[in-house]
Amino acid sequence: MSRLVMVSNRVALPREHRAGGLALAMKCALQESGGLWFGWNGKVVARSGADLHVERQGGITYATLGLDRRDHAEYYAGFANRTLWPLFHFRPSLVDFTRATWAAYERVNALFADHLVQLVEPGDMVWIHDYHLMPLGAALRQRGVRARLGFYLHTPFPPPDLLTMLPVHRELFEALTAYDLVGFQVESYVRAFREYVMGEIGGEVNESGMISVHGGRRSFRVGAFPVGIDVEAVAREAAARAAPPRGPDAPRSVIGVDRLDYSKGLPERFLAFGHLLRTWPEQRRQVDLLQIAPPSREDVSDYRRLRRQLEQMAGAINGEFGEPDWVPIRYVNRGYPQPELCGLYRGAAVGLVTPHRDGMNLVAKEYVASQDPADPGVLVLSRFAGAARNMPGALLVNPNDVEGMAESLRAALQMPLPERQSRWHSMMAAMREDDVTAWWRRFVAALEGGGGAGTALAA
Ligand code: F6P
Repeated sequence: MSRLVMVSNRVALPREHRAGGLALAMKCALQESGGLWFGWNGKVVARSGADLHVERQGGITYATLGLDRRDHAEYYAGFANRTLWPLFHFRPSLVDFTRATWAAYERVNALFADHLVQLVEPGDMVWIHDYHLMPLGAALRQRGVRARLGFYLHTPFPPPDLLTMLPVHRELFEALTAYDLVGFQVESYVRAFREYVMGEIGGEVNESGMISVHGGRRSFRVGAFPVGIDVEAVAREAAARAAPPRGPDAPRSVIGVDRLDYSKGLPERFLAFGHLLRTWPEQRRQVDLLQIAPPSREDVSDYRRLRRQLEQMAGAINGEFGEPDWVPIRYVNRGYPQPELCGLYRGAAVGLVTPHRDGMNLVAKEYVASQDPADPGVLVLSRFAGAARNMPGALLVNPNDVEGMAESLRAALQMPLPERQSRWHSMMAAMREDDVTAWWRRFVAALEGGGGAGTALAA
């Protein structure tokens, strides 16, 4: 196999615990295959890229660089997270577009390309991740890179009617045609992309399922590659970390673990929990909600506003229903290492994962894999998470329906053991099939099979 060069906006350096499935999945792939991981080191420095640092640890070479204040503000907090993130998560009213942030996005992608060309060797396979770096493949091609280039989007991909609201949609999405393989989490995102390319760029789907553009002069593959977890490793961690039972009278826990992000549906989740306690008073003292929400992207005002809103909501619900010896919502703004989370998942009777939109959502999978087979908890999952496509045993909910979520929560808390077990078995089987190893191996095999720059068809 060729050497794998992984590129993402943020690199999870050794010893770092990063929230989000992307970091874990990429680390798993690189730990097995070896290779290079290139991207931002998370630091704001005096001059973007001046501090390029290369280190090797456990078979992985990390090559990272810092961003200056302007690039951080305009590229990361700007175009990536104030324009693309809300657009891809179906929140057009939050999209903020300016020419300056678009220019910064192109500038940082060019900067990444300038550094990367010096690290890529002949025969490498370059796999670029996520919405921050869509034009990077084209920038590498312009600099003469002929390696196989793959791109994978970890977020949802909305239909063309939404995409075309972005003034620079054509420049941005046409850049994706420079890759040999473009991957998405689920089939519906693949369909949206095909529809966009056919409707806006004049592409065609040929007999082998490839997309060809520019009058057939260039063709590339598109596919769904649902990202998974290391099921057995999570199950092992959870069993090793299982907390001792809290005593017969202790409340059972519902758990949520999410970056503090408006796409995750946290206010509606708190409302649903409040509704449960209000409508079914017998649930009071019997159950609590542990919500872990590490703060994220605090340079973006929508995130700061959400943080204040959640603090206020948790306080109001605890004030209304709490007792001296029972706190309904335990709300924690801190990230925890994954093994610790696995122990907490195992101790919770319900996993509550209710995003408005989510590319996949690996918390849903980790919750299920952490359960005790003899007494598994129940997953309550938003139908708008990519994970909902292949979690047959979950109770699916619509995060816009607060009362419906409360009803599902109650059903989950009352579900008899045989039903919990049969639902859990069906989800474990599906997750084992689509685990993290299958994810990266399928993508890499498709990329290897597709040929390099040579896939561009002769005119
Ligand atoms: O999957 C979405 C994503 O943006 C990843 O790219 C990233 O690893 C994660 O969320 C965390 O976000 P950030 O790097 O902005 O803190």
